[in-house]
Amino acid sequence: MGEFVKVAKLSQIPERSARCVEVRGTRIALFNLDGEIFAIADTCTHAEASLSEGSISGEEIVCPLHYATFHIKTGLCTGPPADDDVRSYTVRVSGDDVEIEI
Ligand code: FES
Repeated sequence: MGEFVKVAKLSQIPERSARCVEVRGTRIALFNLDGEIFAIADTCTHAEASLSEGSISGEEIVCPLHYATFHIKTGLCTGPPADDDVRSYTVRVSGDDVEIEI
Protein backbone atom coordinates (compact mmCIF):
# COMPACT_ATOMS: atom_id res chain seq x y z
CA MET A 1 0.00 0.00 0.00
CA GLY A 2 1.24 3.47 -0.86
CA GLU A 3 1.53 6.56 1.21
CA PHE A 4 -1.16 9.25 1.32
CA VAL A 5 0.16 12.72 0.49
CA LYS A 6 -1.73 15.97 1.06
CA VAL A 7 -2.06 17.71 -2.31
CA ALA A 8 -4.76 20.39 -2.04
CA LYS A 9 -7.57 21.87 -0.02
CA LEU A 10 -11.09 20.74 -0.87
CA SER A 11 -12.14 24.39 -1.05
CA GLN A 12 -9.63 24.90 -3.90
CA ILE A 13 -11.54 22.52 -6.19
CA PRO A 14 -15.08 23.82 -6.78
CA GLU A 15 -17.71 21.46 -8.10
CA ARG A 16 -17.20 20.40 -11.75
CA SER A 17 -13.76 21.95 -11.89
CA ALA A 18 -10.22 20.62 -12.20
CA ARG A 19 -6.95 21.53 -10.56
CA CYS A 20 -3.45 20.37 -11.46
CA VAL A 21 -0.99 19.57 -8.69
CA GLU A 22 2.58 18.35 -8.90
CA VAL A 23 3.53 15.53 -6.57
CA ARG A 24 7.13 14.34 -6.53
CA GLY A 25 7.66 15.43 -10.12
CA THR A 26 4.39 14.00 -11.47
CA ARG A 27 1.53 16.21 -12.59
CA ILE A 28 -1.82 14.97 -11.31
CA ALA A 29 -5.26 16.32 -12.22
CA LEU A 30 -7.86 16.55 -9.47
CA PHE A 31 -11.54 16.77 -10.35
CA ASN A 32 -14.63 17.50 -8.31
CA LEU A 33 -17.65 15.59 -9.61
CA ASP A 34 -20.75 16.26 -7.52
CA GLY A 35 -18.68 16.86 -4.40
CA GLU A 36 -16.48 13.79 -4.81
CA ILE A 37 -12.79 14.19 -5.68
CA PHE A 38 -11.03 12.02 -8.26
CA ALA A 39 -7.39 12.04 -9.34
CA ILE A 40 -5.83 10.92 -12.61
CA ALA A 41 -2.52 11.63 -14.31
CA ASP A 42 -2.65 15.11 -15.84
CA THR A 43 -0.64 14.31 -18.96
CA CYS A 44 -2.64 13.16 -21.98
CA THR A 45 -1.27 9.91 -23.42
CA HIS A 46 -1.58 11.26 -26.98
CA ALA A 47 0.67 14.33 -27.09
CA GLU A 48 1.11 15.33 -23.47
CA ALA A 49 -1.45 18.13 -23.14
CA SER A 50 -2.62 19.00 -19.64
CA LEU A 51 -5.95 17.27 -19.04
CA SER A 52 -6.84 19.61 -16.19
CA GLU A 53 -7.07 22.36 -18.82
CA GLY A 54 -9.68 20.39 -20.77
CA SER A 55 -13.42 20.51 -20.38
CA ILE A 56 -15.51 18.23 -18.21
CA SER A 57 -18.33 16.46 -20.01
CA GLY A 58 -20.40 14.23 -17.75
CA GLU A 59 -17.86 11.92 -16.12
CA GLU A 60 -15.26 12.47 -18.84
CA ILE A 61 -12.51 14.97 -19.40
CA VAL A 62 -12.01 16.15 -22.97
CA CYS A 63 -8.35 16.83 -23.80
CA PRO A 64 -7.89 20.51 -24.77
CA LEU A 65 -5.52 19.73 -27.65
CA HIS A 66 -7.06 17.05 -29.89
CA TYR A 67 -10.16 16.15 -27.86
CA ALA A 68 -9.41 12.60 -26.74
CA THR A 69 -11.63 11.65 -23.81
CA PHE A 70 -10.82 9.93 -20.52
CA HIS A 71 -13.09 8.69 -17.77
CA ILE A 72 -12.39 10.87 -14.74
CA LYS A 73 -13.20 8.15 -12.20
CA THR A 74 -11.01 5.44 -13.73
CA GLY A 75 -8.53 7.06 -16.14
CA LEU A 76 -9.77 4.84 -18.96
CA CYS A 77 -9.33 6.30 -22.43
CA THR A 78 -12.81 6.51 -23.95
CA GLY A 79 -12.19 8.31 -27.22
CA PRO A 80 -9.47 8.92 -29.84
CA PRO A 81 -6.93 10.03 -30.81
CA ALA A 82 -5.35 8.77 -27.56
CA ASP A 83 -5.11 4.98 -27.18
CA ASP A 84 -3.66 4.49 -23.74
CA ASP A 85 -5.35 5.04 -20.39
CA VAL A 86 -3.99 7.46 -17.81
CA ARG A 87 -3.19 6.31 -14.30
CA SER A 88 -5.80 6.92 -11.64
CA TYR A 89 -5.04 7.51 -7.98
CA THR A 90 -6.90 6.69 -4.79
CA VAL A 91 -8.17 9.86 -3.12
CA ARG A 92 -8.87 10.42 0.56
CA VAL A 93 -10.53 13.58 1.92
CA SER A 94 -9.83 14.39 5.53
CA GLY A 95 -11.59 17.54 6.69
CA ASP A 96 -10.55 20.15 4.10
CA ASP A 97 -7.44 18.21 3.07
CA VAL A 98 -7.35 16.26 -0.17
CA GLU A 99 -4.84 13.43 -0.08
CA ILE A 100 -3.85 11.00 -2.78
CA GLU A 101 -2.13 7.66 -2.50
CA ILE A 102 1.27 7.63 -4.16
FE1 FES B 1 -4.60 14.94 -25.84
FE2 FES B 1 -3.76 14.96 -28.37
S1 FES B 1 -2.74 15.70 -26.63
S2 FES B 1 -5.67 14.27 -27.60
